[in-house]
Amino acid sequence: MHRRRIVIIGATSALAERCARLWLEQGPAELVLVGRDLEKTGRVAMDLRVRSPQSSVSERTVDFQDPAAIGALVASLCAAAPVDVALIAHGLLPDQSACQADLGLCREALLVNGVSPALFAEAFAGHMERAGGGTLALIGSVAGDRGRKTNYVYGAGKGLLTRYAQGLQHRLAGTGVSVVLILPGPTATPMTAHLKGKGGPPLADADAVARTMVDAIEKRRPLCYAPGKWALVMLILRHLPRCIFNRLNI
Ligand SMILES: NC(=O)c1ccc[n+]([C@@H]2O[C@H](COP(=O)([O-])OP(=O)(O)OC[C@H]3O[C@@H](n4cnc5c(N)ncnc54)[C@H](OP(=O)(O)O)[C@@H]3O)[C@@H](O)[C@H]2O)c1
Repeated sequence: MHRRRIVIIGATSALAERCARLWLEQGPAELVLVGRDLEKTGRVAMDLRVRSPQSSVSERTVDFQDPAAIGALVASLCAAAPVDVALIAHGLLPDQSACQADLGLCREALLVNGVSPALFAEAFAGHMERAGGGTLALIGSVAGDRGRKTNYVYGAGKGLLTRYAQGLQHRLAGTGVSVVLILPGPTATPMTAHLKGKGGPPLADADAVARTMVDAIEKRRPLCYAPGKWALVMLILRHLPRCIFNRLNI
């Protein structure tokens, strides 16, 4: 029986880990977990092995900012056997004012949220295109839909991913390769733990968001807001006239 081959980049992310659990609930799979810390990635792998002893779960590390290392890793993963699903999940929610005061932090946030995931996506796209199939899923954010004063550094990195996914979708149309762009709204994970009870929008449940993500990936939907209500919220926000938008403290 063909076991699906799923590669997760940023596999220690809470959302990615929940997606992995959902995939293993569907049946045995071959999972490759890619993280920046072998010990942490190993802990996620160990838990998944217990949940699905029939699955094969392996872990790899890579320098997430090194284009040559990313290219080599993705080439070696795709050479072993075709990859059915690649989920690119890593990201970093920086403090906006700290980024304004420190260009080093600003650069780091732009690289981790935008450039690094785009490099992984580019690497997978070429191999999947040659293989004639596969699903490439990227986690962007609703924050990438319109720049706002309270988080435009993060939003700009995520906005880069949105444009990149659109370009890949255009390029790969009709090839058998699907590109799925997932835009979560604020969700309760370690990334947002410091926002709990601070008066912002309520945080969505991570399991529910992961279910929406996996469903979109299975259905190869080009765009998925998670939870779905954010599609309408962001439609309104994107089209809000500047004279009204500029008065909002968001
Ligand atoms: N939670 C939300 O509200 C929300 C909303 C919209 C979009 N998202 C996006 O969803 C994705 C998953 O986030 P999450 O909520 O699951 O958060 P999370 O549990 O905090 O996971 C963040 C992931 O990013 C990795 N990461 C952090 N800094 C990194 C760096 N400098 N270089 C490479 N990897 C780095 C982390 O690796 P380590 O474990 O090694 O630190 C971890 O795998 C991210 O892309 C995030 O931007 C989340």
